[in-house]
Amino acid sequence: MKSTPQRALWRFLLWTGVLSVSIGASPSLVELYERTGVLTSAPPTMVASTTGTAVPTRVAGTPPQPSIEHDSDPASLVNLFIGVVNGGHVFPGATLPHGMAKPGMDTNSPGNHAGYDGDPQFNVTGFSQLHDDGTGGAVPLSNFKIFPFTSCPTQDRLKDCQTSLLGRMVPRKVLASGSPDDAASPGYFSTNLSTNVRVELTATRRTALHRYTFPEGTVNPRLVVDISNEGGQSSTIPKVVIDPDTGRVTGSAFFEASFGPGRYEAFTCVDFKGDGFTLGSPKEHGVWLENFPVQDTTRSEQMYLSFRSQIGALLTFTPRANGNTPILARAGVSFISIDQACRNAEEEIPDFDFEAVHTAARAEWNELLSRIQVKMDNVDPEITELFYSSVYRTHISPADYTGENPGWNSTEPYYDSLYCNWDTYRTLYPLFSLHDPENFARIVRGMINIQQHEGWLPECRGATVPHYVQGGSHADPILGEFFVKFHEKASALQVDANALYTALIADAEKQPPNFNLMGRQATLLNKIGYIPSDVWDPAGTNTKQVSRTLEHAFGDFAISQVAKILGKQADSQKYAKRAGNFNNVWNPNVTAPDRPDIAGFVQPRFLNGTFNFTDPRHCSVHDPLQSTCFLDPTNTDGFYESSPFVYSQYVPQDTAALIELQGGAQKFIDRLDYIMDQDFFDSTDEPSQQIPYMYHYANRPGLSIQRSREVISRFYNTSINGLPGNDDSGAMGSYVAFYLAGLYPLPATSQFLLGSPYFPEISFTNPIFNSTTTIRSHNFQGNPANGTSGNIFVKSVKIDGKAWGSSCFLEWDAFVKGSLIELELTNDVNVTCGSGKSALPASLSTGGFD
Ligand SMILES: *[C@@H]1O[C@H](CO)[C@@H](O)[C@H](O)[C@H]1NC(C)=O
Ligand SMILES: *[C@@H]1O[C@H](CO)[C@@H](O)[C@H](O)[C@H]1NC(C)=O
Ligand SMILES: *[C@@H]1O[C@H](CO)[C@@H](O)[C@H](O)[C@H]1NC(C)=O
Ligand SMILES: *[C@@H]1O[C@H](CO)[C@@H](O)[C@H](O)[C@H]1NC(C)=O
Ligand SMILES: *[C@@H]1O[C@H](CO)[C@@H](O)[C@H](O)[C@H]1NC(C)=O
Ligand SMILES: *[C@@H]1O[C@H](CO)[C@@H](O)[C@H](O)[C@H]1NC(C)=O
Ligand SMILES: *[C@@H]1O[C@H](CO)[C@@H](O)[C@H](O)[C@H]1NC(C)=O
Ligand SMILES: *[C@@H]1O[C@H](CO)[C@@H](O)[C@H](O)[C@H]1NC(C)=O
Ligand SMILES: *[C@@H]1O[C@H](CO)[C@@H](O)[C@H](O)[C@H]1NC(C)=O
Ligand SMILES: *[C@@H]1O[C@H](CO)[C@@H](O)[C@H](O)[C@H]1NC(C)=O
Repeated sequence: MKSTPQRALWRFLLWTGVLSVSIGASPSLVELYERTGVLTSAPPTMVASTTGTAVPTRVAGTPPQPSIEHDSDPASLVNLFIGVVNGGHVFPGATLPHGMAKPGMDTNSPGNHAGYDGDPQFNVTGFSQLHDDGTGGAVPLSNFKIFPFTSCPTQDRLKDCQTSLLGRMVPRKVLASGSPDDAASPGYFSTNLSTNVRVELTATRRTALHRYTFPEGTVNPRLVVDISNEGGQSSTIPKVVIDPDTGRVTGSAFFEASFGPGRYEAFTCVDFKGDGFTLGSPKEHGVWLENFPVQDTTRSEQMYLSFRSQIGALLTFTPRANGNTPILARAGVSFISIDQACRNAEEEIPDFDFEAVHTAARAEWNELLSRIQVKMDNVDPEITELFYSSVYRTHISPADYTGENPGWNSTEPYYDSLYCNWDTYRTLYPLFSLHDPENFARIVRGMINIQQHEGWLPECRGATVPHYVQGGSHADPILGEFFVKFHEKASALQVDANALYTALIADAEKQPPNFNLMGRQATLLNKIGYIPSDVWDPAGTNTKQVSRTLEHAFGDFAISQVAKILGKQADSQKYAKRAGNFNNVWNPNVTAPDRPDIAGFVQPRFLNGTFNFTDPRHCSVHDPLQSTCFLDPTNTDGFYESSPFVYSQYVPQDTAALIELQGGAQKFIDRLDYIMDQDFFDSTDEPSQQIPYMYHYANRPGLSIQRSREVISRFYNTSINGLPGNDDSGAMGSYVAFYLAGLYPLPATSQFLLGSPYFPEISFTNPIFNSTTTIRSHNFQGNPANGTSGNIFVKSVKIDGKAWGSSCFLEWDAFVKGSLIELELTNDVNVTCGSGKSALPASLSTGGFD
């Protein structure tokens, strides 16, 4: 998903100098290396922990800090601040892998989709318990902010405190480098506020633990609990209750979904404890409305609320006798009830042990991240950092909301923050296939369970409610990916194959009452083989007709692969035929403006079979109309968030057919060159992701390697602005991880396109097979700056000592067994895939995928 129009506003502010971003404030290691020829790096900041281990934690905007002990502690290589400005909307707070509780710092930035903003210009409004990562839409979640006051103007009475969102916000503390005084590592976040309060955050699955250390001399350490101001400031019916004896604050409200029409209810339960001393009952308490705390009130019912009132609790504590005053705040969250929020907190963090929770979170991250190992000889540390940071972001969403589904009771897992499958099906789930099948299986089970209760597989979902469908029904290739790769382990992973297939067929055959929220415009599509551009179906919006046709064709391909494995021959053939529906929107007579030799584009088509015309540059940077191509019911041009140039390459199931449509291999290569050189390739949007690798299909893998490396060097780095757009719930992170691993996945197939890894050796351990697969490059001589030349091309491949017939793809089988894959590298860009048609990656029309 592209960023919202706010991104344009952001750019404008930057351009006009209204904002000064600390971009490039500190040179990267690569820059230092290039300038000095010497690799220098500051030792990592150490955060002392009571368990005696020191945990390296990255400070915002500092250079990368390579760790020797990357084998056991890859968490130390993760930089959580990549993409925290410039519309990346990355969440740098604390979470477990796929945790529900994601405590993080919220700012008053217009781009605070994940609460945080790396630009210290933006002030702090609180520390809330739930976030998403890298989304567009309206600001999601950011519910139940907690905020510290060291004193309140002017007489420091409870009633003097400016409790509203803007009334209370404080500037950040800015370091000499220009970066804010913020630090983070997997499972941990900390900041020092300009009020000299230190804030630290960590989390279990459904509970956040905060530590507010008030400076010595604070007479009235106070904490606000804000029930109403989530990111969208959309709350209605907020409720708050204070227990004056224990200090417990409970609350709930209804909030707007971020990218759909629904609303959701969320609940919290906050308790306080002194860290190393007895805190006692609050010495003052009161409910606040806007900027008016009312002493001794305990319930929201004691206030006069209007629509979208700001409301919460304010507590004043007695400071510790000597030194500073560290107060722990434990915030349980739930989508079911206040009781459940309290229960989650009590069960998950019974003793408020901050260090123990932090250590457990980091251990969980290290267990997951260390399943992928790299050798770093001859590799710039920045690349390793980019790699592990990208893998890290693959595991923030979807979030495990098991037990928190308000829709129905089930013992099956429930995963949320599917935001959106359109973004993530291409690379995020295939990366799970390589090293995290258990989470993958649980997500699949959760999706099947949703289909069983709602009728269709989820497409986009957040905060327990459906969000808008962006294109196809992309749970189909996600379930296809799972089943193609793990059908032999399906029962071990508790995935019911029949239920999975039933869910796929429901998507493909049954038209839902509203195909904007789930499912497909199936009736018409299945009748005529494309979505016509001139029919207003009452069940949804008449838009994105061409891109939806292409995406459903790929979805049907995924279903055909599952049917084949299940021995359903007739179904397999039926869906494989439908996978050819891309042909139905192909108009051979449309040519590229300025390039008449580039002929044939996907185009909008009427019900009567004739074509309408959409300029191939539409939705690209060269669009003369500068169309946005977002969700908009008046867009009848046929395309979602990418141009006809990009969508005319989108037939992953049958690139061989595409080459024929585009006039043969050389014309195909010329077109790819034009797309890349003229920036029709859109690094901010997922439909472009395979394009740099498509030269493989024209038997020119060297060009793919050049192009994919060019993409990394142009658009991705470890700076705070190191993402070209939204991370899209880890879609971009997983994409970068694949490119650096020298692979590009083809979801719902057994093939990975093979490039050349940025590491002399990279290995993937897959717990379900108990196997480790290693890709080792002989003659590895490092990664040239922009990847256009050097010893980076693959001459030949051996698997477990035997010559492998293609330098262009690997089969899943090698990853099941746990193979040693050896690449012979060369500096010859003219390498081929090998001899014979079988050396080319698979395509349906040439008999592939059988
Ligand atoms: C942050 O707060 C400071 C001090 O109140 C104020 O001058 C500044 O304008 C605020 N910044 C933003 C982006 O709101
Ligand atoms: C905040 O201040 C403490 C010292 O009080 C220091 O240890 C820490 O590194 C600072 N920065 C962050 C982000 O926690
Ligand atoms: C789930 O079960 C609980 C306990 O039996 C019940 O109170 C609740 O209403 C059920 N929820 C739904 C959505 O059916
Ligand atoms: C393309 O042009 C040819 C020759 O003019 C014509 O026969 C054919 O019908 C056209 N195809 C479409 C889809 O417009
Ligand atoms: C086909 O439909 C379009 C749009 O409804 C219309 O403009 C066009 O005239 C029709 N063409 C034919 C040949 O019926
Ligand atoms: C044909 O496309 C143009 C440009 O997108 C659009 O304005 C027009 O409404 C379309 N015609 C029909 C009948 O949909
Ligand atoms: C990092 O990537 C961003 C986004 O693509 C780009 O704007 C920026 O110039 C890059 N910075 C460096 C130091 O390469
Ligand atoms: C996994 O493999 C290792 C070595 O390859 C072996 O020692 C171990 O017993 C295996 N574990 C299981 C559960 O099969
Ligand atoms: C790539 O790097 C080489 C060697 O440093 C340089 O000559 C060339 O201009 C670079 N190309 C691009 C597109 O940056
Ligand atoms: C690759 O092929 C091109 C065009 O045929 C040729 O100019 C170039 O020298 C070749 N490169 C190598 C390294 O052989």
